[in-house]
Amino acid sequence: MKTWISLGGVVWFIAAAAFLTGCSQEGSPTAPAANNDGPSSAQPPARVRIGFLVKQPEEPWFQQEWKFARKAAAQYGFDLVEIGATDGEKVLTAIDNLAAQNAQGFVICTPDVRLGPAIMAKANANTMKVFSVDDQFVGADGAFMDVPYMGISARDIGEQVGRTLADEFTRRAWPLEETAAAGITFDELDTARERTQGAIAALTGAGFPADRIFTAPMKTTDTEGSFNAAGTVLTQHPEIKRWLVFSMNDEGVMGAVRAMEGRGFNADTIVGVGIGGSTCRVEFEKTTPSGFYATCLISPLRHGFETSEMLYKWIHDGVEPPKDTRTKGIIITRENFEEVMREQGLM
Ligand code: GLA
Repeated sequence: MKTWISLGGVVWFIAAAAFLTGCSQEGSPTAPAANNDGPSSAQPPARVRIGFLVKQPEEPWFQQEWKFARKAAAQYGFDLVEIGATDGEKVLTAIDNLAAQNAQGFVICTPDVRLGPAIMAKANANTMKVFSVDDQFVGADGAFMDVPYMGISARDIGEQVGRTLADEFTRRAWPLEETAAAGITFDELDTARERTQGAIAALTGAGFPADRIFTAPMKTTDTEGSFNAAGTVLTQHPEIKRWLVFSMNDEGVMGAVRAMEGRGFNADTIVGVGIGGSTCRVEFEKTTPSGFYATCLISPLRHGFETSEMLYKWIHDGVEPPKDTRTKGIIITRENFEEVMREQGLM
């Protein structure tokens, strides 16, 4: 009898403990997703957890993407794991860590588009869904991979930059013989090449001579990489008195503008037009204008919020996202940036 009672007590204790453990997992917002084995598969779906991996966590664009992804996480009630993955090894380790945390998928701007096949192999091995953002995966055959992607309309945005430069060149009535354009390029990356080639096409289309457009490749796609690339152009062309500047993003223009300022150029002799809207904001907020004249504002809200939203709905509701989404840009200057950013939900 005594044995039976104590055994009964143990059974009750185990049952109560199991019940309480189950309750605490359901109730905790950060509890790992329960596995779907056995009877628990009849339970409501486990809480969704997704990763958001970016190639350059220090760049304001990517911080803004994270910010808007957090907004989606709060609105839909999923867990978001933000990871800065600056090289291939970090990306692959991050995917393993996400799998260990029961994440069901991730959004990624990869540090190298040729990592696409390795990323997909690891994700598939862990049954994780993948949404690529900004930089599109390239397969072993050199073609873009069939993975959901959201990127900017790179060619169109580049053309807007080129037209803005051409218009400003005309408006200022700069003598052509004193003027040249500096294009800071990163042709390894398709979205970057399309942007700068679009700018060149629009400039030449507006009558600016192709032989007065000097391009210089960046080793790294940040302000320092651009500063160094622009230094080479400036050294090669000491005869140029006025510069038009374009690149793949705000950082690419910012570095070149800083290099030019270091050699005595200023807002009267530089017209820089970026692509982004985050990094250049400080330039527009300065009381005295700098050579950073304008940017083509793109949307970290769409790239951060909508990518995570689509991935969440894919995991939670089985709604497959569109394969290819391209977002638009709007030219802004120090005159209208606050108004346009407010309209776009970015202030
Ligand atoms: C690339 C660039 C970023 C940003 C995004 C926009 O990833 O490196 O600076 O311009 O594209 O899609």
